[in-house]
Amino acid sequence: MHRRLIVPSALAASLLLAIPASAAGGTVGAPGIGDPYYPASGNGGYDVSHYDLRLKYQPATDLLEGTATILATTTQELSRFNLDFGLDVSEVRVNGKKAGHVKNGEQELEITPAAPLAKGKAVSVVVRYAGKPSEVKINGWTSWVRTPDGAVAAQEPESAAWWFPGNDHPLDKATYDISVSVPDGTQAISNGTLQSQSSRFGWTRFNWRSSKPQATYLTTLAVGKFDITTDTTSDGLPVVNAYSKDLGANAGAARASIERSAEVAEWLTEVFGPYPFDALGGYSPNVTSGFALETQTRPFYSPKQFANGANVSVVVHELAHQWYGDSVSLKGWKDIWINEGFARYSQWLWSEKEGEGTTQELADYTYAQHPADDTFWTVKPGDPGPDNQFDTAVYDRGALALQALRDELGDETFFALLKGWPAEHAYGNASVSDFVSYAERVSGKPLAALFDAWLFRPARPEAPAAAGAHA
Ligand code: ARG
Ligand code: ZN
Repeated sequence: MHRRLIVPSALAASLLLAIPASAAGGTVGAPGIGDPYYPASGNGGYDVSHYDLRLKYQPATDLLEGTATILATTTQELSRFNLDFGLDVSEVRVNGKKAGHVKNGEQELEITPAAPLAKGKAVSVVVRYAGKPSEVKINGWTSWVRTPDGAVAAQEPESAAWWFPGNDHPLDKATYDISVSVPDGTQAISNGTLQSQSSRFGWTRFNWRSSKPQATYLTTLAVGKFDITTDTTSDGLPVVNAYSKDLGANAGAARASIERSAEVAEWLTEVFGPYPFDALGGYSPNVTSGFALETQTRPFYSPKQFANGANVSVVVHELAHQWYGDSVSLKGWKDIWINEGFARYSQWLWSEKEGEGTTQELADYTYAQHPADDTFWTVKPGDPGPDNQFDTAVYDRGALALQALRDELGDETFFALLKGWPAEHAYGNASVSDFVSYAERVSGKPLAALFDAWLFRPARPEAPAAAGAHA
């Protein structure tokens, strides 16, 4: 039985050598996962289940070195496949055996296993590497930001390829063990739970674990001198917050905001249903950028977010993403509204709860801020294009769309949707059109025209009902 099968597959293998790979029935994994906004992001031919990163970082020189072990399952026969990665690789092993590896362009690491991999098989890939991530440019930039005492990797839509090899697209989520060794007196902050830390030979190793599926861009690392607070929520989740010792005048406001994460998560749980992960927190490193990012279980907050005092609203935004964006991830980057529209609307809900303005008042205000000829209305939140992914219209017009939906459906159905969606797609991926179908199914109402007006037309929709009433 086995013999008879071996003969044809050996024949097939010899044919593969003779025929260019692309003509040989597609045994070369695609260099992109198929996202039209970012054609080079992700790869084809396999699905990662787990990343194990064992790294060492020296802040003084920016040298990052270590080993990534990637566990995956092939989704096609593979004579070759890619990882997205920018640093220098010294060795690759596939299923324990040395594999060929060559860098094709800035971010594609092409790996040729000793023998083609069959479809549907478990595969382990070990990549040894080293480099100075701040000096590695992909598309002209690096996500890796050096600070006076360390470095930070936190960016969207891509940040991984400067510090670990992977299938760099939210369609392929995986669990992580991230172990980072840094000079004594320095900390390494990452996602999930801190399993252990120990010091030897002047270096301290921090072992972090993410036990739920996590997108590559939501995987973060910060090295530096931090004050760390630890606690447990009333539900028993470990809370770890980290503040650079170098936050200057923003230090108090940062703590007064991020220390409220457990309270905010408890409120969001009432609105969205069970918190999807097993750890909670936030961190603020000494960077000069101004943004925040929903890195899984432990959002990144630039200290500038706290320049005017406490900013609990940004904590609401980033923690809302734990449901909308992190547990339910987008299918393609054009679907960014299913992240940002809901995260912004959550801030409006928090304002309503705090008595600082109802969502309707905020919607009316936002609508009135943008006259019909404002370029704001030319951005389509449902498909904004890669250059406008994080345009304010995706957030604010995106939240206006949800207010229009709430006005149309009434509170009972609207809030059932807000809670039902994270349950329907927990730990998965979904698109804008999946949400439209879901809302129609749950409400029993045709909603295509409403979503078309608010998400897909490059023009200002009719004023929301209450805004019209105020006019
Ligand atoms: N998802 C992030 C937020 O809304 C946006 C990050 C945008 N990236 C940037 N470099 N500004 O919280
Ligand atoms: Zn956001």
